[in-house]
Amino acid sequence: MWYNVGMNDFNFYSPTLFAFGKDKELETGALVRRFGGSRVLVHFGGGSAVRSGLLDRVTRSLEAAGLFAVKLGGVKPNPRSSKVEEGVALCAAEKIDFILAVGGGSVIDSSKAIAIGAANGGHWREYYVGKDRTPPPIPAALPVGVVLTIAAAGSEGSGNSVITLEPENLKRATSNDVLRPRFSVLNPALTFSLPPYQTACGLTDMFAHVCERYFTQTRDVVVTDELCEAVMRTVVAESAKVLADPNDYQARANVMWAGMLAHNNTCGVGRAQDWASHGIEHELSALYDCAHGAGLAVVMPAWMDYVCETDLVRFVRFATHVWGISPQENDLVTARAGIAAFRSWLKGIGMPLTFAELGAREEDIPLLVKTLGLNGNKLGSFRPLDDADVEAIYRRCLG
Ligand code: NZQ
Ligand code: ZN
Repeated sequence: MWYNVGMNDFNFYSPTLFAFGKDKELETGALVRRFGGSRVLVHFGGGSAVRSGLLDRVTRSLEAAGLFAVKLGGVKPNPRSSKVEEGVALCAAEKIDFILAVGGGSVIDSSKAIAIGAANGGHWREYYVGKDRTPPPIPAALPVGVVLTIAAAGSEGSGNSVITLEPENLKRATSNDVLRPRFSVLNPALTFSLPPYQTACGLTDMFAHVCERYFTQTRDVVVTDELCEAVMRTVVAESAKVLADPNDYQARANVMWAGMLAHNNTCGVGRAQDWASHGIEHELSALYDCAHGAGLAVVMPAWMDYVCETDLVRFVRFATHVWGISPQENDLVTARAGIAAFRSWLKGIGMPLTFAELGAREEDIPLLVKTLGLNGNKLGSFRPLDDADVEAIYRRCLG
């Protein structure tokens, strides 16, 4: 296949300014002004940013920069289209020209959707659906800035957004460089207050973002292979530290930057990427409203079990370079030992590994396959999957 031959051509446009470090949120007002904002929608979640005092600090910073601001909170994890509609209407009423997301992936993704709607006469939804799961290109979006509170989704550096479309309850994604944030404030101390479960969901998600890129059929992509492995090893090593001591600034800092590197595509350029596990997981977080990272903990190893014989050499490399496993009696045994090590890490950080632990049900598998909506197309590139493959992977998640 064409992508088998070596590093692919690519354009990589990653214009986000990252303001990383202690108290960096105090620069938010100046950053919004620098990137042209004057009337700001401050978008946030269910209350953690209010309780921590972060929202107050950010608001004061906007005031100090002489900016007009209106607030819209209440974004839920797995963000919903109704909140996006509310935001788009508010932007029109208040003549908003900049969206500031204060929160995690859900708040950022909702902000990106609002940014599309506000710049396109209220139209945003059609950019999340499209023939064969490929939405049309997004013509324009208002600028988005971010103050990140959880290291996980990587939306602070990505051009992606994922929204649950109501009333059908379809979780759908879009992607375009116009959605890449103008700036992202990354203060690792803002993540001290994360509960262990959310921390672990974030670690799982960023690890999975690297896996989706690492498991490729593209050859001779040495630099990105090595980057992927370094990020994965770092996430594993730092996971023990952040879970042992949630206030370990250095470990939180390494995890925060790893989460960004895992998903702004530094590790993915020039190679075929897979993303089947993400597609399969999004159906779980749509139906059961589980955390995305927890869903991935169940799906990703099951996907690995199912596809590893497609390219044992790659899975042997995963086992040896990421998990430090010595070569076993044959490649299949080594490959399976790598997947077992991955599962064991997930279990150790408190992630579910089965449908039952996630709260998912075997009888819903046909529905999950249907809502994924492959319509005869294939999912993923490492091993392209049809409906029967996807069903088999869900069944492997039963444990
Ligand atoms: O809503 P609040 O009260 O803020 O609580 C949140 C939420 O309950 C809480 N939280 C966040 N920061 C906190 C905190 N609690 C205490 N202290 C803090 N500092 O954590 C919970 C989860 O937040 P959420 O934003 O949902 O997490 P995450 O960043 O994991 O985002 C998940 C969403 O991103 C999507 C997922 O599908 C999911 O919808 N993804 C987005 C991607 C992208 N745009 O590039 C890529 C990913 O693959 C992913 O699909
Ligand atoms: Zn993800």
